[in-house]
Amino acid sequence: MAHEDHPQRALHAALQMQQELRDYGQRRTEQGAHPLEARIGINSGEVVVRSFETGGRLEYTPIGHTANLASRLQTLAPVDSIAVSEYTRRLVEGYFELRALGPTPVKGLSEPINIYEVTGLGKLRTHFQLSERRGLTKFVGRERELEQMQRAREQATGGHGQVAAVMAEAGTGKSRLFYEFKATLPPACKLLEAYSVSHGKASAWQPVLELLRGYFGIQDADDPTTRREKVRTALVALDPALAETLPYLFALLAIQGAPDPLAQMDPQVRSPFSSCNTSVQAAFLTATGEILPAPADTSFDPCVFPASII
Ligand SMILES: Nc1ncnc2c1ncn2[C@@H]1O[C@H](COP(=O)(O)OP(=O)(O)OP(=O)(O)O)[C@@H](O)[C@H]1O
Ligand SMILES: [Mg+2]
Repeated sequence: MAHEDHPQRALHAALQMQQELRDYGQRRTEQGAHPLEARIGINSGEVVVRSFETGGRLEYTPIGHTANLASRLQTLAPVDSIAVSEYTRRLVEGYFELRALGPTPVKGLSEPINIYEVTGLGKLRTHFQLSERRGLTKFVGRERELEQMQRAREQATGGHGQVAAVMAEAGTGKSRLFYEFKATLPPACKLLEAYSVSHGKASAWQPVLELLRGYFGIQDADDPTTRREKVRTALVALDPALAETLPYLFALLAIQGAPDPLAQMDPQVRSPFSSCNTSVQAAFLTATGEILPAPADTSFDPCVFPASII
């Protein structure tokens, strides 16, 4: 089955594979083994999927020009890199950082083709950001919706936390509405954004983690020590008593130091949101009250709560 963001998913998977292979390779060389050399090639397009039987099991394999070119790209990619075709580049531009490797002769093709190396994540996260980069049309209508959101904002500013959810058919202007609403925010408002991805359903915490990273000012390039320091400084500035919740926050953000006072704890109990951890929850909510609208009672369901944050 094809998904609209398949090319992005493929590149995310490739970057993750690259990281895992590097880590594994490093562990191997530390033990005196030969270095591991890996290359990844990615192409996009239509394929024919052929089924065949091996040892009584039915397996599938893609065939055709698209799959062949991906395989050629894999052999052409410099060691330890990810190579993509021109067509894939067009589909993922902005979402990833790419470096041109120049026109390259490919076996079976009469002309050299442009290939690119994937070097990391780009600045774009959503397809609306791509439209924004290309230039937006004049905003029309939606006065009533904007007004409702303004009212919710005023109530929130007055100390009554609000959640506003916008639901509508695909492509009918949800992201644009938020974009216009954000433009009306007074400078005193702190704006933190988090995104869900369709392939991230398995990690219910993802948007909350993104909000927290934004709140603590954590950058991708920060190492765990820097990350812990940022969290500690921000939390202690809010309330020195919150320092005792630090190990839980570190665990949630996967930046535990050594020794980790929670290492022996059951993962369920370790979570600041586990039902047996109400005192930590209360502290946590005080800390994040600035950014997350606290529910009436201090326990909440991770599967439901992040889903209601837009
Ligand atoms: N009120 C509006 N006035 C002018 N242009 C609009 C308006 N609403 C949406 N658009 C334009 O229509 C396009 C689609 O809108 P948008 O991306 O906000 O839809 P969406 O509901 O978020 O889509 P998706 O479900 O795919 O996320 C964008 O280019 C946006 O700028
Ligand atoms: Mg949208």
